[in-house]
Amino acid sequence: MRRAAVFLALLLCLLWTGARGSDGGGTGKKEGDFDIQEVKAAHDQSSSQTQMSTDVWAELQRANADLLARVTASENKSTALENRMSSSEKQVEELQRENADLLARVTARENKSTDLLDRATANEKRSTALEGRMNSSEKEVEELQRENADRPQVAFSAGLTDSGSVGPFSTAMTLKFSKVFTNIGQAYNPTTGIFTAPVKGAYYFRFNMWESRKLTYSSVVLYHNNQRKMRLLDFIDRSGFVSESNSMVLQLEKGDVVYIVLPSSYGVRDDSHNRIIFSGFLLFPV
Ligand SMILES: *[C@@H]1O[C@H](CO)[C@@H](O)[C@H](O)[C@H]1NC(C)=O
Ligand SMILES: *[C@@H]1O[C@H](CO)[C@@H](O)[C@H](O)[C@H]1NC(C)=O
Ligand SMILES: *[C@@H]1O[C@H](CO)[C@@H](O)[C@H](O)[C@H]1NC(C)=O
Repeated sequence: MRRAAVFLALLLCLLWTGARGSDGGGTGKKEGDFDIQEVKAAHDQSSSQTQMSTDVWAELQRANADLLARVTASENKSTALENRMSSSEKQVEELQRENADLLARVTARENKSTDLLDRATANEKRSTALEGRMNSSEKEVEELQRENADRPQVAFSAGLTDSGSVGPFSTAMTLKFSKVFTNIGQAYNPTTGIFTAPVKGAYYFRFNMWESRKLTYSSVVLYHNNQRKMRLLDFIDRSGFVSESNSMVLQLEKGDVVYIVLPSSYGVRDDSHNRIIFSGFLLFPV
């Protein structure tokens, strides 16, 4: 608007200067007193008015209208821009708000994910630890199974005889328990009556004696190698029988022997009832 006014003033100035030139400067007015009415009056009244000044005036009006239209359009454009700008700003604000919202949600999700990851990692660690323990347990079981498989199986049980009285003899003799009931590992030899330890270990032995002859001494002795370990002894002074038994756990070296001896001048008796039995088994190797 201001630019248009300045332009208008300039044009009027030009016109005024031209009018003064043509009437010889006889109006007596100062430059500052000039206005449109005077110009218009000068235009109407002056006899020496030229075609050029008429053209300038028309031009001036056209320019004025033109300017006004352009200014109005510019103002309209400016208003439209302002409107668009403010709606844009509003949109930006909304987007920023949405962004912040999204960011918060993403962060929360990330936190949750991190949490889950941490828990998963902890679980994996625990699983690995458990797997390690399971592995070592399995190894132990395998070892035990192997040991068990390697461990010799030793167990025997044998009765003395079906043929009745044995002894008394003038010398001590090893009793040959000939009725073999069990002889796992073949550590007992029924031909010699001697048990031989196949491995170093703890062994359990059980033995007894039985006699039914009147006025007879009865006795058996358990030997470990050439050592007497235990003696059973009794005497029948009237009709009836005597029966004694005992047992022992012995720690044997591999190759050690265990057997039962009938001392000289003592007798025992066995029959199909299996009254005298010698038994033993390996408790565990040591
Ligand atoms: C300017 O806006 C007014 C009112 O909104 C309208 O009447 C006029 O025609 C517009 N002028 C131009 C040049 O766009
Ligand atoms: C995400 O975790 C960080 C650090 O652990 C914490 O500062 C933030 O407040 C958490 N954000 C949410 C949304 O839970
Ligand atoms: C457990 O044993 C399996 C199979 O031998 C092996 O692949 C795994 O790595 C072992 N795990 C641990 C924790 O020792």
